[in-house]
Amino acid sequence: MLERKKILLGITGSIAAYKAALLARELQRRGAEVRVVMTPSSIEFITPLTLATLTGHPVYSDFTENRDSGEWTNHVELGLWGDAFLIAPATAQTLSAMVTGACDNFLMAVHLSSRCPVIAAPAMDLDMYQHAATQANLEALENRGVSIIQPDSGALASGLDGKGRMAEPEAIANWLENWFQTKAPLNDKKIVITAGPTHEPIDSVRFLGNRSSGKMGFALARELQSAGADVHLIAGPVQLNDPSGVQVTRVETALEMHAEAMKAIKSADIGIATAAVSDFRAKTTSKVKWHRNEMPTAIELDENPDILYDWGKQKRDGQILVGFALETDNGIESAKSKLKRKNLNFIVLNSTADPGAGFGTDTNKISIFEQNGKSHTFDLKSKDAVAHDITQLILTHLPQ
Ligand code: C5P
Repeated sequence: MLERKKILLGITGSIAAYKAALLARELQRRGAEVRVVMTPSSIEFITPLTLATLTGHPVYSDFTENRDSGEWTNHVELGLWGDAFLIAPATAQTLSAMVTGACDNFLMAVHLSSRCPVIAAPAMDLDMYQHAATQANLEALENRGVSIIQPDSGALASGLDGKGRMAEPEAIANWLENWFQTKAPLNDKKIVITAGPTHEPIDSVRFLGNRSSGKMGFALARELQSAGADVHLIAGPVQLNDPSGVQVTRVETALEMHAEAMKAIKSADIGIATAAVSDFRAKTTSKVKWHRNEMPTAIELDENPDILYDWGKQKRDGQILVGFALETDNGIESAKSKLKRKNLNFIVLNSTADPGAGFGTDTNKISIFEQNGKSHTFDLKSKDAVAHDITQLILTHLPQ
């Protein structure tokens, strides 16, 4: 149930840190990939070597990897790696630091850099747990969207008996499984997304192309992946890194993108075409660079296949297809006609006339037209926020 889930495990300085080894083991046994960050005080309870050996990956507890050479550990990359950041055990001190945003050790820097959901499994003595300050911290964290895995009641290391024991590793793994299942609405859905431009060669160095950056498609891939979907991104030539947890196929030309997309759509529940596919390719291309005097004065073109149209022709019952339309004029009319012709559930229109929308920008301003006649307009927002809006609309189209 935790297959391919990336769990960033944060260990802080409680005696329950010894259980973190069993927890890492249990998460891996259920298919998760685990990376570990530790606070300096947790190292007093369990060695990084234990966790590094169990997970097969280095464990990080410090900003510098090698003081002599000045090599440092990138907390931002680690913070972005996980599908979930599980802090177990979470001490009273760490919970309090999380509330204030303190950043006095490596784990706290990762906490501030992480974009994935944060989950904490508190572990402390009964009185510390019951203290109004701790309870207020837990409440503040929950209000901020941090999930808390309730501690157990029972014998505590202090000799006291009561609530404060970290939940058992198996219970934490069960909790996570349940959380991925219930909080991740697209959990069992396969989604294929086309993104970026295509480059159609003219000779070995020149091509026909467009200015699409691929940012919208990549933002959607990230958003849908974190909503639990199994995402396959087919990307043309773009300068963007693979989103974490997403299967990425890189292509150059429209014909390559078409071949990959037609294969992928067969098993997909949802297809989203954000790619700015070149409508034409050169009829003949040269394997070597044309010199100026060899360059033809006219290039004959062949039409490329329309990937989304071909998806629309094979659309299965219950399958959801989403298209994009980048228009310079007559936007609404043109988008609505594409919606129908390509057999889509809805089409997302962005206009080059809107500043901050369309190719290359980090923002977008969209309208959406549905097959059922409904339409929605949105303000200018980041492409990540636009991806969220589109995801919410996809959820309403899922077959019940
Ligand atoms: O280019 P056009 O405005 O028709 O694009 C509308 C939609 O069709 C977009 O979602 C685009 O990704 C898709 N498309 C495609 N293959 C093409 C052209 C467009 O999938 N050859």
